[in-house]
Amino acid sequence: MIELRNITKTYESDEMKTPVLKGITFTIKDGDFVAIMGPSGSGKSTLMHILGALDSASTGQYLLDGKNISDFTEDQLSDIRREKIGFVFQAFNLLPRATVLRNVMLPLIYAETPVKEREKIAGRALLSTGMPEDRWNHHSNQISGGQMQRVAIARALVNNPSLILADEPTGNLDSKTGNIVLGTFQRLNKEEGRTIILITHELDVAEHADRILHLKDGLIVKDSLHHTKRIIKMNDYDAD
Ligand SMILES: Nc1ncnc2c1ncn2[C@@H]1O[C@H](COP(=O)(O)OP(=O)(O)O)[C@@H](O)[C@H]1O
Ligand SMILES: [Mg+2]
Repeated sequence: MIELRNITKTYESDEMKTPVLKGITFTIKDGDFVAIMGPSGSGKSTLMHILGALDSASTGQYLLDGKNISDFTEDQLSDIRREKIGFVFQAFNLLPRATVLRNVMLPLIYAETPVKEREKIAGRALLSTGMPEDRWNHHSNQISGGQMQRVAIARALVNNPSLILADEPTGNLDSKTGNIVLGTFQRLNKEEGRTIILITHELDVAEHADRILHLKDGLIVKDSLHHTKRIIKMNDYDAD
């Protein structure tokens, strides 16, 4: 479970201070699928970096699974990231000339996972995103944008994270392939029980989550439930 208590973040340089988050308080339960929505510059990525233990807040408390990680050292934060969190970004950040399978195995190579295990874990992650098996040996620059994002999601899954943070994951996709990616997140949430936090500036995208936290000028201005747009028709996977 995630609990933020009055989190603030101010970027400071020699000449100036830029207050970005101005007192954020909310709770997200295990297994929730929440969107954080707000216009450009509202502080979404800053908030995601804090939620993902990539950066620390200036003030306030962040409780993750009951532990106050606000005061953790960089080493302790990196343990948290490795144990619990998967990241997906707008840019897919794949190695273009490596195969799909190798891209997904990469974090396991760094983690020194035994060779035999790597392929098994990566294959499971790819299946879980619905990536067609006949593409696994393609180079990652030879597949569609929607498939690239699914490979990036598979790569985020190999450490079996309970929490997935996705920052504008459909930002580089047309709406049809974007929807396939949103369906993938819905399946990871509903069928695998992973907590998902989806960051977006678009209402249409946010409505695929079950709850929307609206961020404006560094504050949560609305916390709403709505009729979720459902995509999971899993057999659609090969549509792109
Ligand atoms: N490392 C940084 N140093 C200084 N200012 C930053 C830094 N990162 C972001 N900002 C500023 O913080 C504000 C919010 O940025 P960001 O969190 O990226 O918003 P969003 O993701 O909603 O577009 C912007 O005004 C941005 O210029
Ligand atoms: Mg951003």
